[in-house]
Amino acid sequence: MKRLTVPAIRNRKGKDPIVMLTAYTTRMAQLLDPHCDVLLVGDSLGQVIYGLPTTLPVTLDMMIAHGAAVVRGSYHAVVIVDMPFGAYEASPEKAFEAAARIMAETGAAGVKLEGGTAMAPTVEFLVSRGIPVFGHIGLTPQSVNALGGYAARGRSNEEHSRIIDDARALADAGAAAIVAEGVVETLAQEVTAAASCPVIGIGASNQCDGQVLVTEDMLGLFERTPRFVKRYDDLAGRISAAVGTYADEVRSRAFPGSDQVYAPRD
Ligand code: KIV
Ligand code: NA
Repeated sequence: MKRLTVPAIRNRKGKDPIVMLTAYTTRMAQLLDPHCDVLLVGDSLGQVIYGLPTTLPVTLDMMIAHGAAVVRGSYHAVVIVDMPFGAYEASPEKAFEAAARIMAETGAAGVKLEGGTAMAPTVEFLVSRGIPVFGHIGLTPQSVNALGGYAARGRSNEEHSRIIDDARALADAGAAAIVAEGVVETLAQEVTAAASCPVIGIGASNQCDGQVLVTEDMLGLFERTPRFVKRYDDLAGRISAAVGTYADEVRSRAFPGSDQVYAPRD
């Protein structure tokens, strides 16, 4: 199976919905890859696998290590790596240096960064130098301190029109796609109509050109599940049951049994 490309994803605007999930490890990437168009190495790995309180402490080195792991475990999907907080906001030049390290050291197909109109010149700078960029607007978790929490965005008229401007600015700057997070349905619809590139929603209704979720959330593996997540399984419950059985069997000496014991040499 030939790997999809970023231009192929960009051309899906208004066509078949784009299927995207997060992946942080090689094995998970292998399992998701046949089903997904895009694998996102999200900075959500800060909370999901490092136990950090927000995405802010996530480093470029962490993103590169996990990005390379996901590229090694995938053959079909486009792999996009999040630019972590602090690696790109100061200037387009600083963003290019961080993005170039991600591209060179992971083999990913592009990067994602948070922010709208303010980041449009940076998106244009990267795209014109050969680095595909996904945008991320609405609820942008790296700005949690400025936003005051993780509530849905765009409920005031002023914020509603600002988010539409953000989508338009990113698309005009050459963004390959835009993640719209935590926005009400009418705004998701307007953002999708306003942007010339695909808009991929998370907590943003089915009006977008695709959907993304944090894999651990949709599998029921992470303790916190936001309202917009549909849980397709209860892996936490299944792991707990399996490990409980193992613990019981070790304590009762039922494990290892005769099937798990090396035969003596003859
Ligand atoms: O970090 C992440 O997982 C993300 C998605 C939720 C879009 O940015
Ligand atoms: Na992210």
